[in-house]
Amino acid sequence: MILIGPPGAGKGTQAARLVDKLHIPHISSGDMLRAAVKEGTAMGVAADGYMKAGKLVPDDVVIGMILERIAKPDAANGFMLDGFPRTIPQAEALQAAMTSAGYAIDRVLLIEVPDGLLVDRGVGRRNDPVTGTIYHLTFNPPPADIVGRLVHRKDDTAEAINERLHYYSSWTAPTIRFYQDLGILRRVDGVGTPDEVTARITTALAS
Ligand code: AP5
Repeated sequence: MILIGPPGAGKGTQAARLVDKLHIPHISSGDMLRAAVKEGTAMGVAADGYMKAGKLVPDDVVIGMILERIAKPDAANGFMLDGFPRTIPQAEALQAAMTSAGYAIDRVLLIEVPDGLLVDRGVGRRNDPVTGTIYHLTFNPPPADIVGRLVHRKDDTAEAINERLHYYSSWTAPTIRFYQDLGILRRVDGVGTPDEVTARITTALAS
């Protein structure tokens, strides 16, 4: 499965709920890249500047990272990709790798949220590095005793979010058409409470 959506649409929030039910790994390209930046690997050093500015990391870096990850044993029975693919070359590389392994993507879920809501969602986001929980200062407030350890992502400024939205409409929109043409895309309204969105996703997966 693949989750697609603009920055702040709720992909990470929904993925965490879905993988618990489906017992498949959640593979987030953004989380993997942030881990590489934190560890200071060569890939992390190369990706850091792009990510801070809200730009896309070059295709060859991201494609290699994801194809290596989905070949691991824990992904043998399925996986949920979040944030990948984001460009046509990424979608084509994934399709080729899946075909040669004898597998197919079952569903691509597109979480749709109007641009006007996305800057607020990003600017107010706080991530818990201990549990991985995604909070929002207003929409999903963290417990007071853990506020001090929460992380505000470097690319969660209004400026970087607007840049990410620009890349989304320029590069990811064609990727959405790619999956629409394959007949496996399902659109889900991402406005409402996280529970409401989860219910819509469950319905979309059954269709
Ligand atoms: P990535 O980490 O993938 O970021 P993104 O796609 O921009 O998505 P986000 O993580 O910002 O949002 P989300 O949809 O997961 O929302 P969340 O659930 O957190 O990528 C970061 C960067 O890495 C990219 O800009 C690029 O540089 C690089 N990169 C990654 N993949 C790449 C690739 N394939 N190719 C090239 N470069 C790549 O929710 C957001 C907030 O909203 C939270 O605070 C949450 O609590 C709140 N929220 C969630 N749902 C709701 C709801 N229903 N109502 C109200 N609030 C809600």
